[in-house]
Amino acid sequence: MNAKQKYLFDLTGYLHLKKALTTDELSKAQVAIDHLLKMPSDRLPPGIERNNSAGAGNGDTAFSNGFSADKSLESLTWHPVTRPIISGLTRGQPRFNRGSLIVNQHHNQKMTPLHCAREDCGWQTRRYGVKDGHIHCNDFICFFYFTDVKPGDGGVVVLPGSHKSEFERPQKSHIDPDGIFFQNLEDPDQPLHPALVNITPKAGDVIVLSELVVHGVRIWKPTDRDRRFLILRYTTQYFSDVRGRKHPFPEEVWERLSPEIQELSEAASYGHTKSIISPDLGQ
Ligand SMILES: [Fe+2]
Repeated sequence: MNAKQKYLFDLTGYLHLKKALTTDELSKAQVAIDHLLKMPSDRLPPGIERNNSAGAGNGDTAFSNGFSADKSLESLTWHPVTRPIISGLTRGQPRFNRGSLIVNQHHNQKMTPLHCAREDCGWQTRRYGVKDGHIHCNDFICFFYFTDVKPGDGGVVVLPGSHKSEFERPQKSHIDPDGIFFQNLEDPDQPLHPALVNITPKAGDVIVLSELVVHGVRIWKPTDRDRRFLILRYTTQYFSDVRGRKHPFPEEVWERLSPEIQELSEAASYGHTKSIISPDLGQ
């Protein structure tokens, strides 16, 4: 994790990594996704489920464990561009926790309201801190984009810097209804509050986002294009919600992962160094 990335992640709670994928990596991933989308639900690779609007809850098509559909997608979980960041944020003790493929279309969708893990899971469960020049972040996401998001399209909205907020986000009864907390993400024509940022990645870009950052998703406006991306979730290896299991995946998914990604996904004790962590990572 270089000095510029540390500065910006600490300042805003997220990074926009432009052109993270090579042309070849991007086209292979796009072909794999096209292939997956054409598959009937009962022919999907074992352990992958297609959840359409009802199941996904927000109108998206979500493929649970979609990262494991093809090696071109699986390899993105430990990609050379994000690897130093994943390792740096966890001081060399990362765990890959989940990876869904999302296809977001205009029709039949709902917005995702502003939220963050502090509010959803309890303030004591998620941590962000800096000590001795290192960032510690125990829950974050890498979004890999396979299609372009243009200004005005919709998509992810963040409140930069909110990962370090010392105050509870005021709720409806306490504040001005025109303020930031009531941004109507469902209305694509409502101007965005100036404190919010609508991130507009291009295909091949990656967004790294702390789950402590207040974020939401605006309605996808285009009717002729969709938004395709992988959500790859990471924690520290000793922060586990896999309930006694050594990894978070169904066995049929686990069996086809490479040994490297299996190790990345395994829970481990504090202080253990996984063999995938090289000495220069974790800085
Ligand atoms: Fe979220």
